[in-house]
Amino acid sequence: MNTLTGSTLWINGILATMDPALRGDYGLLTNHVLITREESIQAVIPREEATGIPGERIDLRGALVTPGFIDCHTHLVFAGNRAAEWEQRLRGVSYEELAAAGGGIQSTVNATREADFEYLYKLSEGRLAAMAAEGVTTVEIKSGYGLDLDNERKILRVIRALREKTGMDISPTLLAAHSVPREFSGRPDDYIDEICLRILPELRKEGLFEAVDIFCETIAFNTEQAEKLFKAAAVLGIPVKAHNEQRSNTGGSALLARYGGWSTDHIEHLGGEALQALEKSGTVAVLLPLAFWFLGDTHRPPVSLLRQHGIPLAVATDYNPGTSPFLSIRLAMNAACTCFGLTAAEVLAGVTRHAARALGRGRTHGQLKAGYRANFSIWAVERPVELFYELGLNPLLHRVINGRISRFGQKTDKES
Ligand code: NIG
Ligand code: FE
Repeated sequence: MNTLTGSTLWINGILATMDPALRGDYGLLTNHVLITREESIQAVIPREEATGIPGERIDLRGALVTPGFIDCHTHLVFAGNRAAEWEQRLRGVSYEELAAAGGGIQSTVNATREADFEYLYKLSEGRLAAMAAEGVTTVEIKSGYGLDLDNERKILRVIRALREKTGMDISPTLLAAHSVPREFSGRPDDYIDEICLRILPELRKEGLFEAVDIFCETIAFNTEQAEKLFKAAAVLGIPVKAHNEQRSNTGGSALLARYGGWSTDHIEHLGGEALQALEKSGTVAVLLPLAFWFLGDTHRPPVSLLRQHGIPLAVATDYNPGTSPFLSIRLAMNAACTCFGLTAAEVLAGVTRHAARALGRGRTHGQLKAGYRANFSIWAVERPVELFYELGLNPLLHRVINGRISRFGQKTDKES
């Protein structure tokens, strides 16, 4: 029996495979056919070898195909907004001053605690649809605006419902250690204990998250507190990641590397001493240029050093109401070039292959390669750089999820 029976052959596309084994930028292949079967990529083969292979043929008419984009750092589930705080920041009040005055993350926590499940779901579904419209097929979503057992659970259940109902591939993260809630004001160690002894194990029992995150910063938690959390996660076999060195050099990245962290995120103020540890642990550096831009930061992450050490660079939106109210992965890609000096090929790897690795999906997502998940986007452009060169127009033609052309919220809808 021909093993390719039941396959779909995607013909006449330009394939940006992002396969590092292929030479040249983007692992670009022309004159090749992408073959999918059910939810997987079965093969990528030269056109002449595909003659005679049975299966449905879909003519891409010269369109560009990329792996589905992966936004590996978002805070997508929250209520309220912080537009009024932004007005204050424009008048010179700093992010830290707003936080100290009870604004910042705490003000979003207040609004999110008041919101019920249905309202949060509706808000979040709309945001996710905007991401999908730009070719995103996988999104990491953090909790972190609940800061107590019931409210963190509510947010994670919203994330679970989004995963079940929208057809989007979602990686949920527990970020209970985002900020010290007002009930624990002045007692951050007690709150870390509450997370380690209660919130983490309780919500783990429900299978509500894949990884644990912490905001390691002067206005949030220190490295001793982070280490306590990483130890508690390690006991339960849960991967860790962290918001590190966003505003100051806390040493969080070096610590995280010792715990084999999936990713160290922000890292504008990362010091050279952490690089070897990160290199050894294989931790991905997640760059968040839109937060840098919206906060009017000037201190850039040490991109050249990260390159020298061969640390994989990912790029994400950091979508959140305080530091990055931008639902656009394409804008983040543009800003990674303009603000941080990444090359176009680095940026595309940053939202595909490397972002997959940052979510523990490096062997299944982020490349057009046999055995990988058939998640890809089809674009009306000729060159990959056009995906983030011109914004305001959207060149996305189709998103394919699990081998099927998918409209947001209709995961089994198939067209040709
Ligand atoms: O990634 N740095 C901490 N967390 C978010 C900001 C969250 C907020 O301000 O609401 C970030 O920038
Ligand atoms: Fe963040």
